[in-house]
This record gives sequence, structure tokens and C-alpha cells, in this order.
Amino acid sequence: MATLKCELIKNITTEKVVQHNKISIVGTGSVGMACAISIILKGLSDELALVDTDEAKLKGEVMDLQHGSSFVKMPNIVSSKDYKVTANSNLVIITAGARQEKGETRLNLVHRNVSIFKLMISNITQYSPHCKLIVVSNPVDILTYVTWKLSAFPKNRIIGSGCNLDTARFRFLIGQRLDIHPESCHGWILGEHGDSSVPVWSGVNIAGVALKSLNSDLGTEKDQERWNNVHKEVIARTSME
Ligand SMILES: *[C@@H]1O[C@H](CO)[C@@H](O)[C@H](O)[C@H]1NC(C)=O
Ligand SMILES: *[C@@H]1O[C@H](CO)[C@@H](O)[C@H](O)[C@H]1NC(C)=O
Ligand SMILES: *[C@@H]1O[C@H](CO)[C@@H](O)[C@H](O)[C@H]1NC(C)=O
Repeated sequence: MATLKCELIKNITTEKVVQHNKISIVGTGSVGMACAISIILKGLSDELALVDTDEAKLKGEVMDLQHGSSFVKMPNIVSSKDYKVTANSNLVIITAGARQEKGETRLNLVHRNVSIFKLMISNITQYSPHCKLIVVSNPVDILTYVTWKLSAFPKNRIIGSGCNLDTARFRFLIGQRLDIHPESCHGWILGEHGDSSVPVWSGVNIAGVALKSLNSDLGTEKDQERWNNVHKEVIARTSME
């Protein structure tokens, strides 16, 4: 008979045992560097590779990381504008994209981002054919789809940052309203990252207490406390990215 654990956790893929754990980051803007520092401080990998087209910036950022090596467990940090440095990564995080030119339409920018992705993804998959990809560049859901198509990887190896940031902001803002640590404030924002995202009010709870059970108008226009302003604020902050 199937155990509860088997029912709960289904293996959708066979996981290979990895001997080493290399992570690469493409794009060394503020998001890329925040990823790099988090990975280093949490000791998530034994090798970190950074790629950027701006070699002067790349050199400076990597020196800063390397010079902090005596305080962390992972001194192995490499970088180049050549994707060769990313070879045999287990995970590649994509934070790079096109910058909007003055007067450029959003649509044109999407086109330019897609052409950048064509070169980027073929380089990444060539050097790390077995990696998983995390896409953070905006518009994240579109570029995650583009990455899936370009890479021809199975879908479980392409992960978009999606509404994770929206959800984190949502939990923080709920915590701020209630004077409760965001860790105890639970709730999800689903759908596409940005303007059209959907807050799931029925699931919002504080340590298991559903807020909808205390205020049945929660998140609706009828709500006297205007809790839907919390979601509006999440959207406003997302549009500043
Ligand atoms: C899932 O895979 C892991 C490792 O391959 C294995 O140890 C585990 O028993 C599997 N779990 C189920 C529910 O099949
Ligand atoms: C890899 O990237 C470089 C620089 O962006 C580009 O010139 C080259 O064509 C790419 N390689 C492939 C196989 O797409
Ligand atoms: C292209 O990517 C960059 C970097 O993530 C992002 O700032 C820009 O908004 C993207 N283009 C469009 C059309 O969203």
C-alpha cells in the first residue's frame, strides 16, 4: 500500500547525485550581485562563476568578492565575458537584459531582450547541458518562456522568479500593518509578476489564523480597512524595478 509520504511527494524526475555544485550568474547588476553575495554567505556552492559583457565592471565586482574570501567558506570565484567559465554548472541564474534606450518602446525592448537571450541561452546550454536555469530578468514570465523554448530543456529545469518577490513584499507589508514578523505572515501572490498579479486573500493567514475569517470583506472594495491597498503597494513597488 502506498504510504502517506509517497502520496505527498512524487518524484517527477530522477535526481542525479552531484559531486560538486557550481553556480553561475549572468549579469552583474544589483540583482546579480545580490544573488552572488547570498550564495556565498549561505555557502550554497563550491564554485561561483560570473559573466557580464561589461568587463571593467565585472573585474571590479569579482575583486570585491574575492577580497572577502577569508571570511567565507567558498573562495573559488571565477569570471569572464566568455561563457566558458560557466562550464559544468548545476545552476545558472540569468539576471541580464537590455537597458531601455531613451524613447524606445517596451515592445522593441522585448525584441532586443529576446535577441540577447538567443545568444545567452545557446552559450549556457552548450557549456552546461545538464544545468537548471533560474530566470530573473524582466519581463520575467515572458523571458522564462523564451528561455524554455530556446534551451529545449525539460520544463522542470527552467524556473522563473515569477511572483516570489511580489509574495515576499506582500508578506512584509502585511507584517508591517499588524506589527508581526513577516515570517509568521503567510499568503501568496500568483499569476504574472507585475500589474496583473493576483493576491489570494482566502489563503492569507497569520500563523494559521485566516484573516478572511476575521474580516469577510478582506481584499474587496467593500473592506473598510482597505486591505487591497497592500496589493496595490506591491504592484507599485514592482513597477519601479
Ligand atoms: C524519490 O527519489 C529519491 C532519490 O532518487 C528516493 O530516495 C526516494 O525514495 C524517491 N521517493 C519516492 C516517493 O519515490
Ligand atoms: C555566445 O555569446 C557571444 C557573445 O555574446 C556571441 O558572440 C556568440 O555568438 C554566442 N555563441 C553562440 C553559440 O550563440
Ligand atoms: C529587458 O531586461 C532588462 C533587465 O532585466 C529589464 O530591465 C527590461 O525591462 C527588459 N525589457 C522589457 C521590455 O521589459
